[in-house]
Amino acid sequence: MDPNTSGLVQKLAEAGQSQLLQFWKELSPKDQQELFQDLQGIDFLEINGFFKSTMETSSSTKHEKMDGRMEPVPREVLGSVTRDRESLKDWEVKGLDCIAQSKVAVLLLAGGQGTRLGVSYPKGMYDVGLPSHKTLFQIQAERILKLQQLAEQKTTVKCCVPWYIMTSGRTMESTKDFFSQHKYFGLDKNNVIFFQQGMLPAMDYSGKIILESKGKLSMAPDGNGGLYRALGNQGILDDMQRRGVEFIHVYCVDNILVKVADPTFVGFCVQKGADCGAKVVEKTNPTEAVGVVCKVDGHYQVVEYSEITLATAEKRSSDGRLMFNAGNVANHFFSFSFLRDVVQKYEPQLQHHVAQKKIPFVDDQGQLIKPEKPNGIKMEKFVFDIFQFAKTFVVYEVLREDEFSPLKNADTQDGKDTPTTARHALMSLHHRWVLNAGGHFIDENGRRVPAIPSLKDGTDLPIKCEISPLVSYAGEGLEELVKGREFQATLMIDERGVHELVKNGV
Ligand code: UTP
Repeated sequence: MDPNTSGLVQKLAEAGQSQLLQFWKELSPKDQQELFQDLQGIDFLEINGFFKSTMETSSSTKHEKMDGRMEPVPREVLGSVTRDRESLKDWEVKGLDCIAQSKVAVLLLAGGQGTRLGVSYPKGMYDVGLPSHKTLFQIQAERILKLQQLAEQKTTVKCCVPWYIMTSGRTMESTKDFFSQHKYFGLDKNNVIFFQQGMLPAMDYSGKIILESKGKLSMAPDGNGGLYRALGNQGILDDMQRRGVEFIHVYCVDNILVKVADPTFVGFCVQKGADCGAKVVEKTNPTEAVGVVCKVDGHYQVVEYSEITLATAEKRSSDGRLMFNAGNVANHFFSFSFLRDVVQKYEPQLQHHVAQKKIPFVDDQGQLIKPEKPNGIKMEKFVFDIFQFAKTFVVYEVLREDEFSPLKNADTQDGKDTPTTARHALMSLHHRWVLNAGGHFIDENGRRVPAIPSLKDGTDLPIKCEISPLVSYAGEGLEELVKGREFQATLMIDERGVHELVKNGV
C-alpha cells in the first residue's frame, strides 16, 4: 500500500490531482489504507473528461434560452385522466393484464441524499406523521402488494411485480437493513432487488477533486440518471430479462401519492406502443419552477423553468391553458428494449449537469472549512435525459391532487413540499375516496362536515382519514365499507377493519 511503488502517485500527477495525497503522512495506517483503496477505485482520466465536457456544455448553454426551439406536446401523444375519461377503463384493464402476466416491474430512485429534508437516514424511511405512522417505503410496498392482488383476481395465476430499488453508497446499508427489519413489508424478499448507483467526486471550479477531510474525498451520487449506468454494471438488466420483464415504471421515493406501476398509465403506454412515457401534471402558474415536457428541435425533453423566458412560460393555448403545461413529476414508463438500448448504446452520450454547491473542504493547512457560498460543483445525470432517444414517446396527464405531493423540505411555517403538505395531500385524497364511495364525515357535534372544507373558520386542515393501500390501491373497493355511513375523524381503514380513533378513545 505504498502510493509510490503502486504507481498511484504517478497516476494522480498525470491527472493533475496530486493534492489528494497532501496529508498522506499525517494519516493513521487505517485511514491511509482507506484512502488508498478509494483512490485506486477511481478512473481519474474519465472524471477529468466529465468535468471538462460538463463545464463546456454548461457555459455554452447558460445564457441561451430554449424558447425559439420549443414546441408543446401534441394532442395525439397525450393521454389525460380528465380529457380521455372514456378510455381509462380500457387502459386499466390492459395494464392489469400486463401485471397479471408478471411483465411489469417498478423501479424506485432512492439514491438521493435528501439534503433539504435534512435527516441522516434515507428519505424512504421517513414518517410524515400519518395516523398509522407508515413510512414512504411501507406505503409503496403495500401498494405493490395490493396491485399484485388486484391483478391476481383477474387470473388464478400468482403474479409478481419485482421492485428494483436504486440506492447509493450512502444509503445502501441502511435501506437494506430497514427492509429486512420490517420483513420486506410482506413482499417476497426475492422480488425486492437493491442495487447501487455510482458516486462522483465533488470538484472545485478548476477541476481539482475536493477533500472533505484529510483522508477522504468529497463524494456524491451521480444523479438519478446514474440509473442507466448502474442498470448495466449491477446486472439489473440481466435480472429483468431473466424474469421476463417487458415494462418498467420508474419513480422517485419522495412522492407520497405515487401510484406504483399504475395500471392505467402502463396500459395507456402499452396500447400506444410507446417505448418511453412520462406522467405529467398540469402546470398552471407560469412562474412555478417545474420542468416541462416538450419537444426541442423535434425531440422530447424536459426544459427547466430557468431555461425559458417569462414570455414563453406565460404563453397560452386557445383553450386558456398554459402552452407549456406538461409539468414533469419524474414518473416514467420504459419498455425493456428501450431501456436496454439506452444502457448499451446511448448512456455514454448523456451529459452531466452542473450543480453548484457549498462543499465543505479541508484547506492547505488541514482545517475544515464550511463555505458560505458555492465553491465547487457536483456532476449529475438526470433520469429524463433519455427522452430524446425514444422512438414512440407518450405523455400521460394526471391530477396533481391525486398523484403528486413530493417530500423535499423540512417543516416550516407555510413551507412547500414538506412532511405536513405530504401528510395533508394523502389524507385529503383518502377523504375524497370515502366521499366518492358514499361515506360521510361528521364533526364532534354530529353535524355533517361539508365536502369542500371552508377556509372561513381557518380550519383548512384536512379531515384525518387514512386508508391502507392493502385495502384500496386507488379508491376502489370502499363502498361496502363506507357507503351510507357517518364517520368522525380520525378515520382509519386497514386490513383489520374500519376504526374511528377518537370515538374509541385511541
Ligand atoms: P432530488 O433531486 O429531489 O434529490 O431527487 P434528493 O436527494 O431527494 O434531495 P436533495 O436535493 O438532496 O434535498 C429526486 C429523486 O431522485 C433520487 C432521489 O432519491 C429522489 O427519489 N435521486 C437523486 C437518486 O436516486 N440519485 C441521485 O443521485 C439523486
